[in-house]
Amino acid sequence: MPKPSTQFVCQQCGRTSPVSFGRCPSCNAWGSMVEEPLEMPATSVPRHKGVPASHPVRLDEISGDAEERLNTPISEFARVLGGGVVPGSIVLVGGDPGIGKSTLLLQLAMEMTSSAYGSHPVLYVSGEESERQIKMRAVRLLRMENGEPLTELPKNLLLVTETNLDTIMEHIQQVKPELVIIDSIQTITLSEFSSSAGSVSQVRETASRLRELAKSSGIAVFVIGHVTKEGVIAGPRVLEHIVDTVLYLEGDRYQSYRLLRSVKNRFGATSEVGVFEMRDRGMVEVINPSEAFLAERLVNTPGSAIAVTMEGTRPLLVEIQGLTTRTNYGNPRRTANGLDINRVLLNAAVLTRRAGINLTEQDVFANVVGGLMVEEPAADLAMSVAIASSLRDMPVRADMVLIGEIGLSGELRWVSQMIPRLREASKLGFKAAVIPRRTSHAEALPSGIEIMEARSLQEALRLSLIDHESSHPKGK
Ligand code: TYD
Ligand code: MG
Repeated sequence: MPKPSTQFVCQQCGRTSPVSFGRCPSCNAWGSMVEEPLEMPATSVPRHKGVPASHPVRLDEISGDAEERLNTPISEFARVLGGGVVPGSIVLVGGDPGIGKSTLLLQLAMEMTSSAYGSHPVLYVSGEESERQIKMRAVRLLRMENGEPLTELPKNLLLVTETNLDTIMEHIQQVKPELVIIDSIQTITLSEFSSSAGSVSQVRETASRLRELAKSSGIAVFVIGHVTKEGVIAGPRVLEHIVDTVLYLEGDRYQSYRLLRSVKNRFGATSEVGVFEMRDRGMVEVINPSEAFLAERLVNTPGSAIAVTMEGTRPLLVEIQGLTTRTNYGNPRRTANGLDINRVLLNAAVLTRRAGINLTEQDVFANVVGGLMVEEPAADLAMSVAIASSLRDMPVRADMVLIGEIGLSGELRWVSQMIPRLREASKLGFKAAVIPRRTSHAEALPSGIEIMEARSLQEALRLSLIDHESSHPKGK
């Protein structure tokens, strides 16, 4: 029997198989197996007997206590990286096409090369855009003051349009940059591999070579990776093991806010979040995100409540909206935007059965303002109160935040990191917070914000909804 010359590779997780599956047995992705030529990369290095390539070193004799970092100008970016760019590290920046990855990294490159930040030489390799296109974008990104560009184009930033990894390596040898940006990994190919650009074997192998480069030379490498849900191009999962840090740029394409989230970081805390706004002059840091997310809020209108959600170590205040309308025919619909649909279903059921808010003949819409995705159960209470507020046509107290998870019996459950959440609400001028009944009083809750403990959803509704007749709820 002749040896097979092809294999099937899952484009999501990299599982290989001699036969195709409709659904990948490892990661359960549908239709993700693609036939690729079977190749044996020449990765085995000839061994020289007697001369080991590495030496074990005593832990206390290794120099350097803390990881050195390059001065990173964009502070929201530095925050997500855990304090700045680490030399010799490889960072994957993933996200949907068009979300702003190239823009953000070009901005980073331009700022790092400026003299104010140590003029680090940077090489920007693009497999997608021509040098001219990148220059046009760079001109657009220059900071303006009184209608004039503030700084001239950086001299230490070199651009090249190239997709062949060997050629890119040569450029790096020549230019000797401190930072290399590869835009994007799906366009880069190794000529000894016959599979097409963006296939799992190409992506995995190019990323490994780039990692070797980073580790051996001390150059920091940023790799952009497109993520599509269809699994047409190599998913980021095969890359996640190879790189030191994985950042995702997320956001609603039709909204201006973007979240840069770290999901893996060898040099800092994970799930740290940086918040940006996409403007016509690039990505602008949002220094006080809670304030930004609440900027357009209408107070004293029914169907709106404020939740405090944790994004990594950072508490964020977000407005959750609920709307109920009578179902015209058929089954009532539940629609979630920025919220987990299952939590909306659960909360609607609990409202109906446990809190006297009858939603059986109501269509329910629940929405997070600002294009943010809130999946935390801690937002249950705000979501439920917003929906109840819409049905009863009673607004929620404008200066109140609602924090808590709701159980099936309509009970409120404690959530983690309550103190930073309350502190953030207080900092933004909120005067009251409805939280679950405390079981332990070990930690003192922040002063400056009135704490209202509620055991059940029903109690929370009584505390938060303003009755038109009696003008104020109990407790104020
Ligand atoms: P881009 O960085 O090319 O996205 P990605 O590399 O993730 O595919 O961003 C593309 C979008 O950003 C495009 O729709 C235009 C918009 N944009 C702005 O709104 N302002 C800007 O200053 C720039 C450069 C782009
Ligand atoms: Mg791009």
